[in-house]
Amino acid sequence: MKVSVEANENILGTLVLPLWEGSEAVAEGSEGGMHRELKHQIENILQAGDFKAKVGTTMTLAGTEGGKALLIGLGKVEDADSQSMRECGAKVVSARGKIHGHNLSVRFHDIDDAHMAAFVEGMLLRDYAYDQYKSKDDEDDSDKVLEVRVTCEEKGVEALRNATTLSQAITTGVHLARDLGNAPPNDLYPMEFARQAMEFGEDHSNVYVKVINYDEARTLGMGGLVGVGMGSYRKPCMVIFEINGDKQGPAPCIVGKGITFDTGGISIKPSPSMDEMKYDMHGSATTFGLMQALVASGHKEKVVAVTCMAENMPSSNAQRPGDVIKTYSGKTVEVLNTDAEGRLVLADGLWYAGTHLNPSYIIDLATLTGAVVVALGHEATGLWSNDDELLENIKAAGEYCGEIAWPMPLFKAFEKEVKDSKIADVRNLGAGRWGGSNTAAAFLKQFVPEVDGQQIPWAHMDIAGTAWGAKTNKLVKTGATGIHVRTLHHLITGL
Ligand code: BES
Ligand code: ZN
Ligand code: ZN
Repeated sequence: MKVSVEANENILGTLVLPLWEGSEAVAEGSEGGMHRELKHQIENILQAGDFKAKVGTTMTLAGTEGGKALLIGLGKVEDADSQSMRECGAKVVSARGKIHGHNLSVRFHDIDDAHMAAFVEGMLLRDYAYDQYKSKDDEDDSDKVLEVRVTCEEKGVEALRNATTLSQAITTGVHLARDLGNAPPNDLYPMEFARQAMEFGEDHSNVYVKVINYDEARTLGMGGLVGVGMGSYRKPCMVIFEINGDKQGPAPCIVGKGITFDTGGISIKPSPSMDEMKYDMHGSATTFGLMQALVASGHKEKVVAVTCMAENMPSSNAQRPGDVIKTYSGKTVEVLNTDAEGRLVLADGLWYAGTHLNPSYIIDLATLTGAVVVALGHEATGLWSNDDELLENIKAAGEYCGEIAWPMPLFKAFEKEVKDSKIADVRNLGAGRWGGSNTAAAFLKQFVPEVDGQQIPWAHMDIAGTAWGAKTNKLVKTGATGIHVRTLHHLITGL
């Protein structure tokens, strides 16, 4: 989507008018190029109270003398926040089917800078379709918004232009994460993810990408990654990203769960909705998307990341419930359920990150448990941390971006549950049915290395409920959401 920001520009295509509920100011300042008859029509509708501008509501109008308009209600000005503005922007894009036009002119009037920026961000985020696998018989892209001209008062132009440029950069990362999350698992398998990452590295001089392949992982003793991935013909790998690696000193480090398909392995899952388990690599998708966003926004500091890629399949070569594996850390794990595989690959990823990449902190992202969806629904990511400051910073960044991450506990009792194996150092299951996302987090904590007797600041984000589109997510029509690319970009850059 091409977006330009101008002061009092003429209308191009359909006029989009964002309006406050209960506000008198109608189409003021919006005459430029508008058919007079259409302007009257809008004024009459507003004066008669036929369009109340309740938040997220729309009305489309076609002038008898030409021109089209889309009214979008912003709700009451005192109730507005960044997220409601993003959702209103998204609504314009989702209503484009009704408009049938390639060009929109959004005319902001009497709206503050941050709210305008959030509205445009919502448009950019919502302008996404995963249609790579649809055969097209013609060039028909009529429901795509191709060009958006944004107009506001002179004083807001520069800020809005800068904010839009930044949003466009970050959105390339969100949309990359969504593409990866939506990709079918027959085409996106561990070494294909690695190939795309290597290509990304080759395309950018400040990005270095390294791949630890299956044989190397075995040699290094990465028993978690190997154990999960060995049942598949498509072998596992670990992909390491480094941005601005020439900068010295510790750097933020992201670790992603990247199960390109999770059948559950020998502890096989029920078949309904199993297809969705292609998004079990969204932790890695977000990680890769974040790298793209950081490069696109011109981040100059060092950032490192590890993605743990494997396909969890049942086969004669798959790991079994009852197996004991030795992880990269040297700790042994009793595998009681092969469907609790994410924590096994992450155990090796966390240990690698902490011992090789000199992290200032580590954040892992994982579609780790169904239990987090029971706890928080699709409204928030579960957030665990061994460091209060890191936890608060992530929570605040999530709030800023409208991607809520909600604190969850790391009680000693949960650690006790995972340490209670009769034959190994830890087990990959809690003791009973309850608190499954907490025992999973407590398991991961066992694999965060110490430096000078102190565990590295670490946070775990369980995105099982937020990485896949839900009815309440108005920024995503369907499929992978690209969750937390924006949160982490904001946390790392402050932008
Ligand atoms: N990938 C799943 C978690 C998941 C569930 C993600 C639903 C997205 C939606 C994970 O590997 C898994 O299967 N976890 C098990 C753990 C259990 C065996 C302890 C779960 O949540 O049931
Ligand atoms: Zn699983
Ligand atoms: Zn999984």
